[in-house]
Amino acid sequence: MLILAFPDYLPQAKRLAARLEVKLKEISIHHFPDQESLVRLPTDIPEHVLFVRSLNQPNEKLVELLFAAKTARRLGAKRITLIAPYLCYMRQDIENHPGEAISQQIIGKWFADLFDDLITVDPHLHRISSLDEAFPMKNAIALSARPVITALLQKKFDHAILIGPDSESKQWVASLAEKIGFDYGIASKIRQGDKQVKISLPKTDFQNQTIVIVDDMASTGRTISETTKLLRSQGATDIFAVVTHPLFFNDAEQLLRQSGIKAIWSTDSITHPTTIMYLDELLAEAIKKIC
Ligand code: R5P
Repeated sequence: MLILAFPDYLPQAKRLAARLEVKLKEISIHHFPDQESLVRLPTDIPEHVLFVRSLNQPNEKLVELLFAAKTARRLGAKRITLIAPYLCYMRQDIENHPGEAISQQIIGKWFADLFDDLITVDPHLHRISSLDEAFPMKNAIALSARPVITALLQKKFDHAILIGPDSESKQWVASLAEKIGFDYGIASKIRQGDKQVKISLPKTDFQNQTIVIVDDMASTGRTISETTKLLRSQGATDIFAVVTHPLFFNDAEQLLRQSGIKAIWSTDSITHPTTIMYLDELLAEAIKKIC
């Protein structure tokens, strides 16, 4: 088994290789002036290779993954496992308007052609309950970052109210809160545009309470910043946020800081200054189970 690491994900891939005690080699990527990618793999590869790369800002990465997978097969790989802690294009799981691409299904079938196994973390599964419904392959494994989030919350707080900012977050928030004995509430959210969300908080007394907003990802940061502002207006004192995937697009982080949040913590699913939790142990355990 060999880990093939993409340059943008080298620190995470190294942590995983060390945890698994397997060799790592780097994939080299050259970007031509016109932005086409030249992907080069080491030529001496074993039958089983693991690609490690999160798929935030995915379009270029997807093309490079396609080139890498096809090249690995040509060089003799019989099994290719993709470790993509952040899995892209999961939110579009139905045709909301006639003619729209159902990206989740398209990516699912595409990956099933390229890879034998896929391991990801907290994928945005809304209308399907299991990852293999969209990714019909040998192993399509959706891990949860709950163990590392639980450990963090227990280290940081004796008690706090966990808030899920929308109905979809209930799956993470309720089980987290039950596990560590914290209270929780679920807000409701109407998304009015890419950068507009309307949040309604659950009916709870937030006066002088410590709150931790928990979500799978922060993208534009609107969901968490709007929730924070509302909580502050209802008297909450210390507000924190924990996310698995810190996408933090454009002004997201600045917006969050301005909302009055005390701290934001994330996993290393995506390289970001808010990273405080590491996924290598979780990923390694899952890899060992299927190899
Ligand atoms: C969506 O339902 C997700 O769980 C997140 O709440 C959402 O993607 C966050 O997006 P943003 O940061 O753009 O509000």
